[in-house]
Amino acid sequence: MGAKGWRVVNPSGNKRVIVTKALPGERWLEILAGADCKVEICTSTDVLSVEEIKAAIGTRCDGAIGQVNEDWGDYLFAALKAAGGKAYSNYAVGFDNVDINAASRHGIPVGNTPGVLTETTAEMAVTLTFACARRVGESERFLRAGQYKGWLPTLFVGKLLWNKTLGVIGAGRIGTAYARMMVEGHKMNLIYHDLYPNTALEDYLADYGEFLKSQGQQPPTCQRAETVEDLLREADFVSVHTVLDESTHHLINAERLALMKENAVLVNTSRGPVIDETALVAHCKAHPNFRAGLDVFESEPELKPGLVELENVVIVPHIASATIWTRQGMATLAAGNVAGILMGYPAWNQSDIMPFLEGNSPKAAPSILNAKELSIAIFQLA
Ligand code: DGY
Repeated sequence: MGAKGWRVVNPSGNKRVIVTKALPGERWLEILAGADCKVEICTSTDVLSVEEIKAAIGTRCDGAIGQVNEDWGDYLFAALKAAGGKAYSNYAVGFDNVDINAASRHGIPVGNTPGVLTETTAEMAVTLTFACARRVGESERFLRAGQYKGWLPTLFVGKLLWNKTLGVIGAGRIGTAYARMMVEGHKMNLIYHDLYPNTALEDYLADYGEFLKSQGQQPPTCQRAETVEDLLREADFVSVHTVLDESTHHLINAERLALMKENAVLVNTSRGPVIDETALVAHCKAHPNFRAGLDVFESEPELKPGLVELENVVIVPHIASATIWTRQGMATLAAGNVAGILMGYPAWNQSDIMPFLEGNSPKAAPSILNAKELSIAIFQLA
């Protein structure tokens, strides 16, 4: 199985499932053991190459759980199929590393882990927004370097969020959660851009505005921007929550950065290539009052030249989903996807995945992205 170490759990299981990284928690292992699976977990923290994963799949493998930084395309799905594989789950909600069409061609259901990352990722977007606005990275470096000589009226003066305009690009689950945290917490006015109107969010904020009015306070405004450009011109703070596909690659480029306010804050917790990182480095260099907070990078784990030296950028290593509850929940859902398919269960089609997280899980695979293409039965609520 190659040079990397592998840990085996439930060795007597009759089905073989490989997992390319150690995952947190125990419930996910119980789910796979309950589906009669022998689970082989790679103990290395190195990113596995497709050749290493193919070697791990070997000649007999019923299912696999992989990571966002692995290339799950035709090569691996062909190998999995040839080894008798019937299920794959990404240990992530995002799946831009997975060629779903290739998986479908090989008849392999692909799972992901929605629902458990929403609040956690939104909270990281909030964290980065504040870290940028209040210059947390710069001031901490200053302090640690022993440069603090006493309180000053002008020391690391930042930007107030209260009553400012918040721009949210991509108003899906995470973008919506972030928008609510910021509007409710900081009375910000919202402008969002999405292909579709988010009427649930609009109605919610309208009701919230009525409540504020009843308290004698100013209600927040909420509008959908027709174009990304309209949003960028208007917003003081912009957070990106789109998926990565051809239409969003370099969505934020030099031309669009130039439309933003010179002291705006730009946050990205979605996928690195949504922002042209080289253009962002140039923009931040030219506009010292502009700030960017990044959890994701265009060529992870590499950073574009110049990024690391910028004082007006806050960078963290793709940890937006890194809370214990979320990472354990992701493991539970990924295992549920693989175990559910191996057990012949239907696909769950509710957005509420909480029933899978504790107690007796529904007899369903929690989130199968190509269920329709593969004509997998849909779970019927009693
Ligand atoms: C995801 O799930 O898509 C994140 O990027 C990793 O947790």
